[in-house]
Amino acid sequence: MELATPICKEMGIRYPIFGLAHSIDVMVALGKAGGYPVFGAARSMPEEIAAEAKIMQEELDGLPFGIDLMIPASVGEETDRKKVVDSLPQEHKDFVAGLAEKYHVPEATKPTFFSSQTRSQQLFEEQMAATLESGTHSFASAVGMPPEMIGRAKRYGKKTISLVGAPRHAAKARDAGVDLIVAQGYDAGGHTGPIGTFSLVPQIVKAAGDIPVLAAGGVGHGCHIAASLALGAQGVWLGTAWLTSKEHALSDVLTQKLLKATSLDTEISYSHSGKPARLIKTAWTEEWNKESAPTPLSMPYQQVLTADIIAGINEHEVEPLIYDATGQCIVWFNELKTVDEIMKRLVSETNDSFANITRLTGA
Ligand SMILES: Cc1cc2nc3c(=O)[nH]c(=O)nc-3n(C[C@H](O)[C@H](O)[C@H](O)COP(=O)(O)O)c2cc1C
Repeated sequence: MELATPICKEMGIRYPIFGLAHSIDVMVALGKAGGYPVFGAARSMPEEIAAEAKIMQEELDGLPFGIDLMIPASVGEETDRKKVVDSLPQEHKDFVAGLAEKYHVPEATKPTFFSSQTRSQQLFEEQMAATLESGTHSFASAVGMPPEMIGRAKRYGKKTISLVGAPRHAAKARDAGVDLIVAQGYDAGGHTGPIGTFSLVPQIVKAAGDIPVLAAGGVGHGCHIAASLALGAQGVWLGTAWLTSKEHALSDVLTQKLLKATSLDTEISYSHSGKPARLIKTAWTEEWNKESAPTPLSMPYQQVLTADIIAGINEHEVEPLIYDATGQCIVWFNELKTVDEIMKRLVSETNDSFANITRLTGA
């Protein structure tokens, strides 16, 4: 039996399995394996987005791919990073300096997206323009998509995808004319709302009306894909799944942490961005949980505050502190695999789950 739903024909893919990652190599492998790749470009500068889209277009040779940006509902107008740094509270700067000293974090030698500028409305507008002018097939947004933006993306011939974590957001996305809604539950890696995937998906399906829905958050095995279809979704959207793929090629230190992790090894923390995000538990999350730690700053100031130390941690692979966004389904990713192997496993397990349901129900 071929694992396919109407969304496959609509989006031009073999399997209703969508994947978000910040790695071009994962995107290319996922598209070739029959899934729908969506590149997370929130940390890319506009000129990088144009170049990244070009590579995906060439390597995928006609297969569709999407680009995801984070619409900064709560970021300011200030584009001068130094002014923003100067305005941060001294208590927070001292805390971060204390972490750097305690864990011997060397300074980064290369700038990163977060250590070189600050998120602003202007930057987002430039990222959006680069995305719409690129060869991307769709445009996805994590935090709401205003109707004018949907109209603008459609005028460029792009499909629009909105990630939502609550039923009221789904109704808004539907009314604004979005093509596809991703219902992302609490199990998910990265920024997440408080409603669990099982409770969320059927509510979003109901609110979405005729708009197809994908289930996200906690999908790590084919049984989750079969369950997602039973909940009324037309497919699934995965993020954690690709972190331990050979193509993602995260640092060895981080990969080993993720391969050993269980569902108990992630937690919701405000320390990453100022908004609740599910991360792998590390000394980084522990330190910010301490009573003596300051309350993380709001978005985008927390990432301005931590940009330099995070750049140092990642570049020099500082074992106790290195982390990434990670969902509870990390437990199903305990061996380094290629994206193609992950896809084949998911598809085969989904078919086994369908067969199991048939056996159980005698249907
Ligand atoms: C490492 C990582 C980075 C993520 N970055 C983004 C992002 O930039 N934009 C976005 O819309 N979602 C992002 N997400 C969330 C995913 O799009 C997806 O909804 C989520 O991973 C699904 O849950 P799962 O992690 O259980 O598969 C990220 C998730 C992870 C694990």
